[in-house]
Amino acid sequence: MEKTHLGTFRRRPVFVARCTLDDLDALQQFSDAVLRRDYFFKKGHWQYLLSSPHLNAVWAIGLGAKGRKESDEPLELVGLFVQHAKSILYNFFLRDDVRGQGLGGMVLQHFQPQTIRAKMDMSTGDPTGFYEKHGYRVAKKVASKGVAGKREQDANIALMVPATTHEHDHG
Ligand SMILES: CC(C)(COP(=O)(O)OP(=O)(O)OC[C@H]1O[C@@H](n2cnc3c(N)ncnc32)[C@H](O)[C@@H]1OP(=O)(O)O)[C@@H](O)C(=O)NCCC(=O)NCCS
Repeated sequence: MEKTHLGTFRRRPVFVARCTLDDLDALQQFSDAVLRRDYFFKKGHWQYLLSSPHLNAVWAIGLGAKGRKESDEPLELVGLFVQHAKSILYNFFLRDDVRGQGLGGMVLQHFQPQTIRAKMDMSTGDPTGFYEKHGYRVAKKVASKGVAGKREQDANIALMVPATTHEHDHG
């Protein structure tokens, strides 16, 4: 798996690597065992995403061995996110013990997505504050597909853009 070094976290190197269908079991295990408490993925979610590589990229966030910049050993998987159509970020999750210490910000800084689909009704809280802290603003609020009615008050997804983007930039 091709991996990119992003920086250091708790004296361990941070890498991101794009997943392939070979990583399906590892992803499924991570979401079942580590994320399940906070977020439930339907069976087939990862398989669908990995099977449409032209549209979706699933990125794994992993830690290498302490004090090393390069790491040949298998990485410890601590998070993941999905990049849709190159510049839309969603499904961004870190293992709960590594949250709130700058790792998410490091990943965001590296990828600099043009749009973020932030789910505001996460069991762990509304993450829009995290993105705002890192230079994004809410451009629009929409309701996800499963929400009936689609009234404004049902909106549970915030579409976020870099805070420097102005309305007329969208043409
Ligand atoms: C959201 C998430 C990826 C952020 O990564 P992180 O490493 O925890 O974030 P960072 O440490 O880089 O930044 C945290 C900052 O954002 C702020 N923030 C606001 N709302 C937040 C939230 N819901 N979760 C985490 N941080 C939040 C924090 O207050 C913190 O500011 P501070 O440094 O002044 O205290 C991670 O917390 C996570 O996996 N959360 C659960 C799942 C989730 O909500 N995912 C987003 C789906 S769109």
